[in-house]
Amino acid sequence: MAEQLIISDGSKEEKYALLYSQITALTEGESDTIANMANIASMIHSTFGFWWTGFYRVKDNQLILGPFQGPLACSRIGFGKGVCGTAWKLRETVIVPDVERFPGHIACSSASRSEIVVPVFDKESLEVTAVLDIDSDTPDKFDQTDRLWLEKIAGLII
Ligand code: SME
Repeated sequence: MAEQLIISDGSKEEKYALLYSQITALTEGESDTIANMANIASMIHSTFGFWWTGFYRVKDNQLILGPFQGPLACSRIGFGKGVCGTAWKLRETVIVPDVERFPGHIACSSASRSEIVVPVFDKESLEVTAVLDIDSDTPDKFDQTDRLWLEKIAGLII
């Protein structure tokens, strides 16, 4: 059957697996958190072509903009505010298929249609130290595969 001869052009799962191994190698050799966040944002962003990929770090009881790729973004987000502040408060990943249906969504860009925010924990997994925020200009872009791999990637940040 012709179908059986088709070689995969790289499924999302395969892309994440490769990305994860690259990020593991990168972070093993670098102890600076900001440097690692900067490269991780760049690698995720260029692999998938998302609209916005970046980090907000917890500082002074707020989320403050960290390394990112994409257009200008808001600098500070309060605890429990927007998708980012909600993921921080809940201490769990939040997937938003349609940002217009998320009460309190903070629209840094009108092009954003869907979003995923993954918390980053300290090494004892006690405190949320940052969040990884990804926006897509496509509705319903993120699923449990994204969640699984992005949580694994977030776990590489110390
Ligand atoms: N939409 C986010 C704000 C950050 S930007 O998307 C980069 C939120 O509601 O928290």
